[in-house]
Amino acid sequence: MSKSAETKVARKKLIEGLNDDLSREYQAIIAYVNYSQVLKGAAYMNIADELAVHAKEELDHALAVANHVDYLGGMPSVTPKLVKTSEKAEEMLRFDLENEKETIRQYRRRVKEADALNEFAIAESLRGILVQEQDHLSALATALGIDPPNPGIAD
Ligand SMILES: [Fe+2]
Ligand SMILES: [Fe+2]
Repeated sequence: MSKSAETKVARKKLIEGLNDDLSREYQAIIAYVNYSQVLKGAAYMNIADELAVHAKEELDHALAVANHVDYLGGMPSVTPKLVKTSEKAEEMLRFDLENEKETIRQYRRRVKEADALNEFAIAESLRGILVQEQDHLSALATALGIDPPNPGIAD
């Protein structure tokens, strides 16, 4: 494949990846809106307030990622990934933790993909989002009384 054809394929892959990230941001917004209000129990009141803050940050991420998709010539996705619900506080926090892990794995990969295409501004924006996702992960881990897990990087 010629260099320009390879670049074209890589850009298409980046758009698809970012649209998947956008669907994960929608999922996160919905989950945090729900969980921040549903979470009950004295032990969880601090984290419930924090989840409401996360919800707003996820909306900012969604807007930023949608902007990158549009800039790259794609159509931003409109579908969230599936949101799990639970009656149990700890289970809700575990769902969030798992989602944040996956989100971090994916953004780490996306930063590399954007850098490889010389899309440094997109990579920079994603790095800023990653900082907040890692804060989300560590807040959830703290609420669960565990060490923040290392999400690794997506293939
Ligand atoms: Fe996010
Ligand atoms: Fe997050």
